[in-house]
Amino acid sequence: MTTPVRVAVTGAAGAICYSMLFRIAAGEMLGKDTPIILQLIEIPQAMQALSGVVMELDDCAFPLLHGVEITDDANKGFKDANVAILVGGRPRGPGMLRSDLIQANGPIFTTQGKAINDNAADDIRVVVVGNPCNTNALIAMHNAPDVPRERFTAMTRLDENRAKTQLARKAGVLVSEVTNVGIWGNHSNTMFPSFEQIKIGGKAATDVITDREWLEGEFMKTVQLRGKAIIDARGASSAASAGNAAIDHIRDWSRPTPAGDWISMAVPSQGQYGIEEGLMYSFPVRCDGKGGYEIVEGLDLSDYAMEKIRATETELKEERDVVKDLLK
Ligand code: NAI
Repeated sequence: MTTPVRVAVTGAAGAICYSMLFRIAAGEMLGKDTPIILQLIEIPQAMQALSGVVMELDDCAFPLLHGVEITDDANKGFKDANVAILVGGRPRGPGMLRSDLIQANGPIFTTQGKAINDNAADDIRVVVVGNPCNTNALIAMHNAPDVPRERFTAMTRLDENRAKTQLARKAGVLVSEVTNVGIWGNHSNTMFPSFEQIKIGGKAATDVITDREWLEGEFMKTVQLRGKAIIDARGASSAASAGNAAIDHIRDWSRPTPAGDWISMAVPSQGQYGIEEGLMYSFPVRCDGKGGYEIVEGLDLSDYAMEKIRATETELKEERDVVKDLLK
């Protein structure tokens, strides 16, 4: 029998996990042949709510779900984990600045990075969803010196998926026709969905959608501000679509990227396109199906694109400076 993959998830009693965990257990992330064990991590105050989530997981009788463990101790939660999805964190409260949020969440990712370093399996792969996800992933990576750096990533897949749908709708095609969507930089409203490389039905998106004003204006704004639009409409932040994006992120990291296409993940920069080495920056990447990936190099970026790519880099450097005491 195939050995189950151990999937550790933090923030497991929260809104995103309430949709995500059931889909992972159904085999939508690692495939219908891969049994899994869920290792669910929460804070002590949320353990009771988490026990209710576990009862519901039990009541689904998922054939692939070979076990569920729950804990409020990160060391136990990441023990032998092969995949870690870091969703949990403190939400942004009223009047809180982004820098306050960064400071409030920083220590959580210090602890979790150390716990991953000391306990996870040798092939551990990490995606950080909890915001500010790029900087949280940077903190976790710095606190896990024995884990290869490229195993730490942050999620910009929701931005990619949002961009795909907006473009498909404008072009009047199915979402599957839209490829080569690269999200650059920070998962924040400085993020840059670079439409210059995107293809629609194999043609340049800029040839299919000739309205450049729409691409630079409404399209960019819709993608960059979508999170806020959902909060305004729903009274709560995006949860099901965020969980879906995390599943997409890990699934696509685990299999080869289709030839000619790419996906978006925030990964430690190795200096590509002049982005400072070590910053957790979202690039277009291609995965090899064996757990490795490479940043797509050699893309021809206009001055307009370079300006946006630099602006989001500047924001990431500022965030890094706020947490510099937590970086080793
Ligand atoms: P939520 O507030 O419903 O759930 C968060 C959970 O994390 C809570 O159950 C809380 O008890 C838990 N938690 C807090 N500290 C923890 C710790 N140290 N260890 C383990 N668990 C801990 O929030 P929701 O809606 O599930 O969102 C979670 C995060 O995802 C937020 O930071 C949100 O901003 C972020 N997010 C990221 C997106 C992205 O595209 N990267 C998109 C949408 C949300």
